[in-house]
Amino acid sequence: MTATGAAAALTSAPAKVILFGEHAVVYGEPAVAAAVDLRLRVRVARGPAGGPSTINDAPLASAYHHYLSEALKAAGEDKPVAFQVEASVPGGSGLGSSAALVSASLLGLLALAGKADRASPVPRETLARLAYDVEAAAQQGRASPTDTTTVTEGGAILVGRERGPGFLWEITRGERRWSLHKVEPPAMPVVIGFTHERGRTATEVAKVARFVARTGFAKDVIREIGDVAREGAKAAARGDRAQLGKLFDRNHNLLTILGVSTPRLNRLCEVARRHAHGAKLTGSGGGGSMIAVSDEPEACAAAIRKAGGAAWVATLGAQGVRFE
Ligand code: PMV
Repeated sequence: MTATGAAAALTSAPAKVILFGEHAVVYGEPAVAAAVDLRLRVRVARGPAGGPSTINDAPLASAYHHYLSEALKAAGEDKPVAFQVEASVPGGSGLGSSAALVSASLLGLLALAGKADRASPVPRETLARLAYDVEAAAQQGRASPTDTTTVTEGGAILVGRERGPGFLWEITRGERRWSLHKVEPPAMPVVIGFTHERGRTATEVAKVARFVARTGFAKDVIREIGDVAREGAKAAARGDRAQLGKLFDRNHNLLTILGVSTPRLNRLCEVARRHAHGAKLTGSGGGGSMIAVSDEPEACAAAIRKAGGAAWVATLGAQGVRFE
């Protein structure tokens, strides 16, 4: 590791899908997420002295680039930095591009500061904690550490209240506490469909928070999503596609009741189900993406494209953040 730091660093982090438990995880219910082999690459370099920090050659405006502005603060960087970002998944797609951006950028910033390099990488736990703080700050404190831990650690992650097998670390925020675990990623492809509508995580999380504050019914829905996630974790470990599909459908219905699905998400799930065991929205909803578990993933992806979505067939369990 050099005391002066690198002049530039090239890093990448994977996108992720939440298989079960989005939104409910914010209230302490379990969730299962997996890194997918669609990566976001970042080149972090020193910018010209006295100039502004930039992203893809445009000045970084903190109002529009919350995540990078918070990442610069968290890394203690006060000199101009030039970020070049290239992503295989669109922003606002519910596929964790903001978490991937934060994690990959932080690793690059630590390399510039001389605190990490290929030979002495930063512990993933340190990065996951920093990335969570950055994402929580950019999302007004409401985020769970699911996305940031998944894209930093890679593989598949189970988030729960209690510690269990595969325990990695615990992250707390105020009175909330999450135990993060590494689990075996289900050995199956997942079909991802993007609606082309951009969801805003903070908006959807706030909407659910208002519903939960007002009604006991919403709290029951949150608990039921937790039950589905517990069953889903077992089905994922067994690689039971039929059962996973049924649970995807149930989880999707519960998220629809919470108000975070959209007509386009419902439509893509419907067309995907003709070639799949089941389908659900993934991530915060309000637009964004859905996933399906299918024995004929290419036909399922084609059906999604025909209905107007973008589609990928992805492998679960990709490697976490790394130097390229
Ligand atoms: O929008 P995404 O893919 O980043 O997913 C957010 C997941 C939520 O459970 C809705 C919020 C969270 O921070 O866990």
